[in-house]
Amino acid sequence: MDDRLTTDATSDQDVAVAAHAGAGASRARKVYVRTFGCQMNVYDSERMTEALSAQGYAGTDALEDADLVILNTCHIREKAADKVYSDLGRIRQVKDARAEAGSDTVVAVVGCVAQAEGSEILRRAPAVDLVVGPQSYHRLPELIARTRAENRPLVETEFSEEEKFAQLPARAPSRSVTAFLTVQEGCDKFCTFCVVPYTRGMEYSRAVADVEREARSLVASGVRELTLLGQNVNGYHGVGPDGRTYSLADLIRHLAQIDGLERLRYTTSHPRDMSDDLIAAHAGEKKLMPYLHLPFQSGADRILAAMNRKHTAREYVDLVSRIRAAQPDLTLSTDIIVGFPGETDEEFEETLAVFAEVGFAAAYSFKYSPRPGTPAEKLGDQIAEDVKSERLARLQRQIERQQKEFAARCVGRTLPVLFEKQGRRPGQLIGRSPYLQSVHAEAPANMLGRLVPVEISSFGPNSLAGVIRPE
Ligand code: 5AD
Ligand code: SF4
Repeated sequence: MDDRLTTDATSDQDVAVAAHAGAGASRARKVYVRTFGCQMNVYDSERMTEALSAQGYAGTDALEDADLVILNTCHIREKAADKVYSDLGRIRQVKDARAEAGSDTVVAVVGCVAQAEGSEILRRAPAVDLVVGPQSYHRLPELIARTRAENRPLVETEFSEEEKFAQLPARAPSRSVTAFLTVQEGCDKFCTFCVVPYTRGMEYSRAVADVEREARSLVASGVRELTLLGQNVNGYHGVGPDGRTYSLADLIRHLAQIDGLERLRYTTSHPRDMSDDLIAAHAGEKKLMPYLHLPFQSGADRILAAMNRKHTAREYVDLVSRIRAAQPDLTLSTDIIVGFPGETDEEFEETLAVFAEVGFAAAYSFKYSPRPGTPAEKLGDQIAEDVKSERLARLQRQIERQQKEFAARCVGRTLPVLFEKQGRRPGQLIGRSPYLQSVHAEAPANMLGRLVPVEISSFGPNSLAGVIRPE
């Protein structure tokens, strides 16, 4: 079972790959992409796929048909990394069967496991031809050609973020109403449990003009909502068109001027980088949604200090009060780790108490997973697996309860819903509320891509239902 509860699960998606193959369809080579982990990996998979489609690759979701298999991997917890190796076992069989039938297959492991484990992957999984870190995937077309020509596996794990964005082809037209846009990568915070500073590197912010160009091209192809992505997105400090450094709030205000763009979101943020100007943007910028994902990880100060989170539980709660004073409609989600080394029952109770006090509407919750090379891995007093499981189950019951309470409070309200896709039933559309909940309503297809007032009439475990109201 997945150990997360969320309104917006993004784990382990088989990315439906857009096929913009330049070559004739019958000759097009096929690529299968499987994406693990966070939204940034989803974004990276889209960019990789676009770069490959410019080279004549068409997407497939049938592994057996793929000339190129890409696993875009996640190293954040052991379970995510282990899944890669179990997938590679199956891929090896498919590769062997295809070889017997006379077709060769290139297998690429990209993303954070590639960065963290490098050539170790080749040792453990001989079917792999390419190991490519998250800062080098713009080189995939060239690396594929080289591994074929030289008939040997290659490992590419250099850090060169600037190069990546400058060298990727421009965005292909989007078919969606919503899109992710990476504006910042890497993290300098060094929470003691986290591999991100090692796999994604130090903080890097894309230039405003570069972000704006991408945003405009997405909006021109029909995107109405952008989620700005970064491992520590509110630490954004990109160079502006006037040479000045732009904060995330500056960037949001700048992008909000794009005609046709209706909504902006950003994720993920560190409490220490919630600056006053970002809080002010929540008050003043109408296109910025009143929804904030703000990880707190633990409600116990001793654990927060051991995690190197750089804030206390009280400071977190006070920060939330300040943001809510600016934007009273603000709804929050968070990340929580249970069973960090040394966590006592009382400290876990403090986490439950903070979770209730803040009144979160959603959360991702995780059992602490010791990660190679991180300081917390070396701490004594690791918590037994059954204790972690018990705490996680209790926390998840509370998350579910609060999620349900929040959904119940939405019933009777009329919320602006951005319709994104057809529902399962004919005549039904599905969109999102400002608070990222899925909303179903009977609505004509021409409302796709539009913001429509919907009166919420009921709720289910993962969605709301409602009736459209005249504007
Ligand atoms: N174990 C468990 N959860 C982790 N996270 C990061 N590292 C670990 C780990 N070693 C969680 C944190 C973070 C989210 C993206 O993943 O809650 O905010
Ligand atoms: Fe990892 Fe987030 Fe901490 Fe950075 S702020 S080290 S990405 S948990």
